Amino acid sequence: MLKRAARDALDYLEGEDLRSVAPSPKAVAALSALRGPLPPGPTSPEAVLHLLHEYGSPATVAKTGGRFFGFVNGGCLPAALAAAWLVSAWDQNAAFFVQSPTAVVLEEIALEWVRELLGLPEGTGGAVVTGATMANFSALAAARHALLARAGWDVESEGLFGAPPITVVVSEEAHATVIKALGLLGMGRNRVLRVPVDGQGRMRADAVPHLDAQTILCLQAGNVNSGAFDPAAAICPEARAAGAWIHVDGAFGLWAAVSPEYRKLTRGFDLADSWATDAHKWPNIGYDCGIALVRDPETLRAAMSMEAAYLIQGEHREPSYYNPELSRRARGVELWAGLRSLGRSGMAEIVERTSAHARRFAAGLRSAGFEVLNDVVINQVLVSFGSPERTLRTIARLQAEGTCWCGSTVWQGQTSMRISVSSWATGSEDVERSLAAMLKAAEE
Ligand SMILES: Cc1ncc(COP(=O)(O)O)c(C=O)c1O
Repeated sequence: MLKRAARDALDYLEGEDLRSVAPSPKAVAALSALRGPLPPGPTSPEAVLHLLHEYGSPATVAKTGGRFFGFVNGGCLPAALAAAWLVSAWDQNAAFFVQSPTAVVLEEIALEWVRELLGLPEGTGGAVVTGATMANFSALAAARHALLARAGWDVESEGLFGAPPITVVVSEEAHATVIKALGLLGMGRNRVLRVPVDGQGRMRADAVPHLDAQTILCLQAGNVNSGAFDPAAAICPEARAAGAWIHVDGAFGLWAAVSPEYRKLTRGFDLADSWATDAHKWPNIGYDCGIALVRDPETLRAAMSMEAAYLIQGEHREPSYYNPELSRRARGVELWAGLRSLGRSGMAEIVERTSAHARRFAAGLRSAGFEVLNDVVINQVLVSFGSPERTLRTIARLQAEGTCWCGSTVWQGQTSMRISVSSWATGSEDVERSLAAMLKAAEE
């Protein structure tokens, strides 16, 4: 079965370059072959795999082929993909050391590598989770614990009913998942103070309100649209002195710290108390993998621990005491494998190459007369093709033509196309082909 799966996977990956990035409407319609009631009896594994490859593969989005520029989605490094196969063969439950010494040790090593790559303080610890959403959630749970413990309140036992109030400060451009995480934690999606931003979406340092030791301040490293970074160096020293908990949503932007060329953008973020980032975005570890990091890991442990007679506390760091989940996939192994294959220079090279590709897109679009709406500081480009209707029409044509895939957004009131160059697999030829397809789609 695994040999068959390997053959089908190779067939899929080799064919990616030749097909449309978005699946054809015909392929999507053919998914109906997979519907129907659950058969009353078994189907052979071979027949099941055949159905998946026959109908499933053609209706996927060709995300790992180098010309998918939607959302902020990385591709998947060869070492991470191969490690994922092995991880599936192992089928480890990475909850406790006794359940998988390999998974737990590799996760510990990978977390430390991530801390070092991002230039964060020694002693910082964390959790490997499903993505930045859960990383924001986990880190903010640690923040909630720490601030209320300071005020003499045990939030894990007592909940938020009657708790001392916490003020949460976010920018007007905070990512929707930070707001969602605050809601999940009972701190309210709307019960936040929103700081105005500048034309790039950066929090305005001069507009940050009074902060104190009962405040969580959420900063952003890498705006999902513009790629811009909040001015952490201007904000963090005072926020720290005031005793506020500083949380950074650095889903992709924090990885700029690895590159000597881009590191300056991340200045000041190391002063924070917690950070959320993704390994499935810029590091190209494959879906799904996010990381929560906390300066004082004991606060995360306090927020996430649980007790049951059959659960264990060995001598090791037990992942489930730092994570929202008990049972969990050993995604730290893929993280370890991908980072090990890249090394520090490989990660820096991805940041630098994809950002150079983004600048090439911006230059090509500008010289064709279109307006690039953001300063292209990293791998994100926002372009308007004129009126909202023309921009949306261009995006729809581009997606249907299939050379590449870009989505839309509204940036500070202007409808635009987003280009996010996040895949390790994107080469110059992909960029030139895609640029030509964009210009053709934009023709009146
Ligand atoms: C800044 C930022 N924060 C959080 C997220 C959410 O990440 P995930 O989809 O991995 O949960 C994203 C996703 O693009 C992001 O760009």
